[in-house]
Amino acid sequence: MGVNSKNMFPLNRNRRLRSKSSLRNLVRESSLSPNDFIVPLFICEGEKIKEEIKSMPEYYRLSLDNLKKEVRELWGIGIQAILLFVKVPDKLKDNAGSEAVNEDGLMQRAIKEIKNTVPEITIMTDIALDPYSIHGHDGIVKNNLILNDETNEVLSKMALSHAMSGADVLAPSDMMDGRVLAIRQELEKNGFHDTSIMSYSAKYASSFYGPFRDALGSKPGFGDKKTYQMDIGNRTEAIKEALSDIEEGADILMIKPGIAYLDIVRDIKNTINVPLAVYQVSAEYAMVKAGARLGWINHDEIMMEQLNSIKRAGANMIVSYFAKEAIKLIS
Ligand code: PBG
Repeated sequence: MGVNSKNMFPLNRNRRLRSKSSLRNLVRESSLSPNDFIVPLFICEGEKIKEEIKSMPEYYRLSLDNLKKEVRELWGIGIQAILLFVKVPDKLKDNAGSEAVNEDGLMQRAIKEIKNTVPEITIMTDIALDPYSIHGHDGIVKNNLILNDETNEVLSKMALSHAMSGADVLAPSDMMDGRVLAIRQELEKNGFHDTSIMSYSAKYASSFYGPFRDALGSKPGFGDKKTYQMDIGNRTEAIKEALSDIEEGADILMIKPGIAYLDIVRDIKNTINVPLAVYQVSAEYAMVKAGARLGWINHDEIMMEQLNSIKRAGANMIVSYFAKEAIKLIS
């Protein structure tokens, strides 16, 4: 286009559409609603427990009674989905994920209780062995290696047991190769045709998960997760991961962490037409809380700006510890 293109000043002035709030509201390209959020919840054994997580201020581990209360409240403010994680007592951890497939385990009981309390809410569950592992790794360990195919067998049984308990969406976060296919086949074989899979497709080996591991006591006992989670320097590989998960039967793809990985979100959004979830992870939450407590940043404004940016980048849904606070501001 030449100098007479339609972007020519002064015929075009970008500030015109910014001149008043109602007009800005009218032309805004992305915005947030309660429908956008998935709320992660940490569950622990016991009764009447609401235990603050040290590195995640104002976020709690809940026993089942308080969990039910919380889910009722979330449903009341318009939240459509929750993502469940359990803190497994140390004595139940092993290297085989035995507790993960216990039909009377904490996760399985939690799913059933929520199903009975708020049947309409979408229940999503984390599928990975780390909370159940004596090694704090997402898979079965042998000679300091994380076994892939052996892990997939347990993950598919774990997924089936969540589905049998009433989970609507299974969210494998382990990053083993072929786990989506293994889970999908196990579900199909057992008649769970409508149970969805939200796959953590592009999950990076990130230090942004630190506070989460405090919450569940699931810090790796040796080494790191770099042989299964993605290298932080890689971009095109994320598309490869995403495509293979779709081929294996994933219904929703997830990218994680959020803010630092929005290039990946847009790449995948532009390449693949499936619903896309972004997980704004624990350290993203902790950093905002910390900065606000120091008085260095405006908590609510930074929170909303980050969530909005995730949406603008291409997320159809956001897993966020801020969901409840954000919804209060939206409405
Ligand atoms: C478990 C899992 C992790 C997170 C979600 N599922 C931790 C990890 O992979 O080490 C992190 C979420 C967060 O930091 O908020 N596989």
